[in-house]
Amino acid sequence: MLKEKTVIVTGGAKGIGKAIALAFAKEGANIVLNYRSTVSDELIKEIENFGVKCLTIKADVSNFEEAREVVEKAKEEFGSVDILINNAGITRDNLLLKMTEEDFDSVINTNLKGAFNMIKHASKIMLKQKSGSIINMSSVVGLTGNAGQVNYSASKAGMIGMTFSTARELASRGITCNAIAPGFITTDMTDVLPDKIKETILNTIPLKRFGETEEIATTAVFLAKNKYITGQVISVDGGMVMA
Ligand SMILES: NC(=O)c1ccc[n+]([C@@H]2O[C@H](COP(=O)([O-])OP(=O)(O)OC[C@H]3O[C@@H](n4cnc5c(N)ncnc54)[C@H](O)[C@@H]3O)[C@@H](O)[C@H]2O)c1
Repeated sequence: MLKEKTVIVTGGAKGIGKAIALAFAKEGANIVLNYRSTVSDELIKEIENFGVKCLTIKADVSNFEEAREVVEKAKEEFGSVDILINNAGITRDNLLLKMTEEDFDSVINTNLKGAFNMIKHASKIMLKQKSGSIINMSSVVGLTGNAGQVNYSASKAGMIGMTFSTARELASRGITCNAIAPGFITTDMTDVLPDKIKETILNTIPLKRFGETEEIATTAVFLAKNKYITGQVISVDGGMVMA
């Protein structure tokens, strides 16, 4: 179903984004890999080994014009934009009293405004196509909140509201929009946490382990394939949030 579709993955050079790019490549989709600083030749080769094309584009998704360029170059190269994965994200954790305005703004600008920028540009093309799938990488803390993450949890909760509104606005044109809310997934983002915090988090996970990036990637592939799921938040968190 995904053969020769065009997938844009933001922040795709490592972690969850990298696993998503590989999972879609395995399905036969052409990959537009957006990255912020560097992307390895090995990853590009790994993607191309699935017999698909990989276009890499350096851009900061929080910048409206750079986000536009990612979408325009994708369309130019492959002729369509079928799936958009808003994966790029950062953390600047601190307790509210110590959190600076810059910490707040940078997280909101990257995680929330970045997703808006990409949706704004990609949806124009998807509307013309009368098809498309948008997947926003939210987080379990967007559903529950978390001490030390006022900025991050606000951005991730914002992405959920954005998902619902986008799904409602675009549904009549055959475009779906969903969010994934990962729990604690082993990547560079979570590796930096002190062992004591990791242990505390582990105790809150019913399945008693951290998640793997591939477990998020298979969820993204599932959502992209299913044209009758829209406006949903899928938790992939070992049972941390049950609703
Ligand atoms: N790892 C987890 O446990 C976890 C849990 C919930 C949600 N998430 C979310 O999943 C996504 C991926 O996280 P990860 O764990 O793989 O983190 P990561 O730090 O390994 O990867 C994030 C990627 O986003 C890119 N990025 C950051 N700012 C960018 C910008 N302005 N423009 C373009 N790219 C940018 C980074 O360069 C990096 O490649 C993030 O949105 C994160 O918030 C992760």
